[in-house]
Amino acid sequence: MKALILSGGKGTRLRPLTYTGAKQLVPVANKPILWYGIEAIVEAGITEIGIIISPETGEEIKQKTGNGQIFGARITYILQDQPLGLAHAVKIAQTFLGDSDFIMYLGDNLIEDNLKPFFTAFKNQNLDALILLRKVSNPSAFGVAKIDEQGRVLQLVEKPKVPPSNLALVGVYFFSTAIHHAIESIQPSPRGELEITDAIQHLIDIQKPVEALQLKGWWLDTGKKDDLLEANRIILDTRLEISLEGDIDSNSQVIGRVEIAAGSKIVNSTIRGPAIIGKDCYLENCFIGPFTSIADGVRLFETDIEHSVILQQAQVSGVHQRIVDSVVGQRAKVEVTPQRPKALRFLIGDDSRIELA
Ligand code: G1P
Repeated sequence: MKALILSGGKGTRLRPLTYTGAKQLVPVANKPILWYGIEAIVEAGITEIGIIISPETGEEIKQKTGNGQIFGARITYILQDQPLGLAHAVKIAQTFLGDSDFIMYLGDNLIEDNLKPFFTAFKNQNLDALILLRKVSNPSAFGVAKIDEQGRVLQLVEKPKVPPSNLALVGVYFFSTAIHHAIESIQPSPRGELEITDAIQHLIDIQKPVEALQLKGWWLDTGKKDDLLEANRIILDTRLEISLEGDIDSNSQVIGRVEIAAGSKIVNSTIRGPAIIGKDCYLENCFIGPFTSIADGVRLFETDIEHSVILQQAQVSGVHQRIVDSVVGQRAKVEVTPQRPKALRFLIGDDSRIELA
């Protein structure tokens, strides 16, 4: 069994953050989204991993993620010249995949469920495809499945205007080599892409064994700001452990589950977990509330923040109207000289500069 992680695409829904970087590298609780997928795959016992990258962001992904050694895996990078669809990605990965079964994992998806039981179900039932489903309130934004009472898949439709159910296709799939033939048999969709949904539908049409299982835990597709904040909230809530390596002065208070990495200095501030602060940060006269992730090298002065994500080397000062539900990009600078707006909601791109004077 091998794994194919898709980490290309343009990340248009997370702009401006993704003008300068890959959406899969945007951090959740200070760790790139992509790495959660790699870790889950390795935990399921799969160590041969191919990662599909794009010309725009591939180098950054390679450079940060490396050859897989830090995960106990072997990573092969496969360049997809143009975003021609998920099934196209499988097609160009054929040399890597060979005659192996594989799990295909979309690099911006995060799921709570352990992969192992799905892997076992796929193997034991000798399936050609196992898909994972989750009930959603907005099925039109996803691939959607129609299933019968026994859970057998009758039909799959990509982004239907009138959805046949509220069961969305999660971005984690298990395939046998039969998928390669199916991909040869499909045509590009109206959006010009070779859809994996159509390839699976082809397997169903020719009576190949395709099953669906529903996720028990949460599923997050981190393509948009609010999903990213939600992913950050859930990961901090469920996986963060206390670790205080930074320097916390005697006027500061750290309450609940908080991680503060080495080299960071906290002066006269209150930090109420769950919250994570990366390396080499400096915080003075601040309140950091629950569900906040602060990446390496951030500087915060006279600032109140909660339920937000602050990326590397950003600087915020003088914002005592609490910053909530916000994402501040790398190296962005927010400076407030005294005044009193009631609420501040930001999605600030890398290198942006906001001054409320
Ligand atoms: C893709 C798939 C879709 C699936 C979704 C899950 O959509 O085409 O079927 O439900 O991932 O994240 P995309 O993110 O390419 O719009």
